[in-house]
Amino acid sequence: MKNLDKDRLKQHIRQLKHEKHAVILAHNYQLPEIQEIADFVGDSLELARLSANTDADMIVFCGVRFMAETAKILSPDKKVLLPKEDVGCPLADSVTVEDLLLLKQRHPAAVVVTYVNTSAEIKAMSDVCCTSANAVEVVRNVPARKVIFLPDRNLGDWVRKNLPDKEVIVWPGYCYVHEQFTVDEVHQAKSQHPDSVLLIHPECKPEVVQFADVVTSTSGMLRYVKTSDSQTFIIGTEEGLIYRLKKENPNKRFYSLGTPKVCFSMKKIRLMDVYNALQYEQYEIKLDKKVLTDARNAITAMLKYKG
Ligand code: 13P
Ligand code: SF4
Repeated sequence: MKNLDKDRLKQHIRQLKHEKHAVILAHNYQLPEIQEIADFVGDSLELARLSANTDADMIVFCGVRFMAETAKILSPDKKVLLPKEDVGCPLADSVTVEDLLLLKQRHPAAVVVTYVNTSAEIKAMSDVCCTSANAVEVVRNVPARKVIFLPDRNLGDWVRKNLPDKEVIVWPGYCYVHEQFTVDEVHQAKSQHPDSVLLIHPECKPEVVQFADVVTSTSGMLRYVKTSDSQTFIIGTEEGLIYRLKKENPNKRFYSLGTPKVCFSMKKIRLMDVYNALQYEQYEIKLDKKVLTDARNAITAMLKYKG
């Protein structure tokens, strides 16, 4: 598409957004053209909070399905639209209702702490949700020593290491994007950019995470970089975040840790899809009433904790 076409499309999107009293939310991994048209860009926790507090009638959620479901759970009376239908998260799909039922039977005294990267049905069966920004804090604060943590084994390992007094039973799911970062890439990046700060997402493998200067969520990385005196940063998360890091910190330098790692679901949404979402009010997130209520209790429990 030519630039002129894109500019015109953006104008139409703004017009429709205004007419329908809609808000566009985008995750930090979305394509630059989507980040530019969004009202808010953020990590899972920020977008969940925004969804809960917006006074718009309609939320166009540019991210993956579980994120749009979270928005619906927190704003059940609003129309929540996902501009593409096939934007799943394989990590979220790695645990089923049957898996969790079995786990709960095996560990009846455990509190179930569920990463937001899960389906609404799994959230509905959980005691409390967490995001990468607050997982350690949430598990620390739950009133139980024994915790079932799902579905990410790497984030679970990070929680376990930070809270040695808790017994954390971790589901063996993982994110195929973050799983690709290697220790060799860490050594190479550190020798190429010796004065850099190494920021790593907790979905990366423990052997990679151990070399991090900072382990945090995508927006945690943005906040750290903004206030840091360092000039050069190596980024161990999905490549989309680097666009925002560069835009907001034009005088600092950013390098991907090894080859850029891409989440294909996050890259599927284009401007035309956002336009169609607004025009035809597609694809609407619909959830079972009981699932919605139970999942909301788990997410609200998370939002009560500081994170
Ligand atoms: P953040 O909450 O850190 O943005 O992470 C979401 C995610 O899906 C990471 O892969
Ligand atoms: Fe899921 Fe990984 Fe993509 Fe995040 S980066 S949405 S965890 S597949």
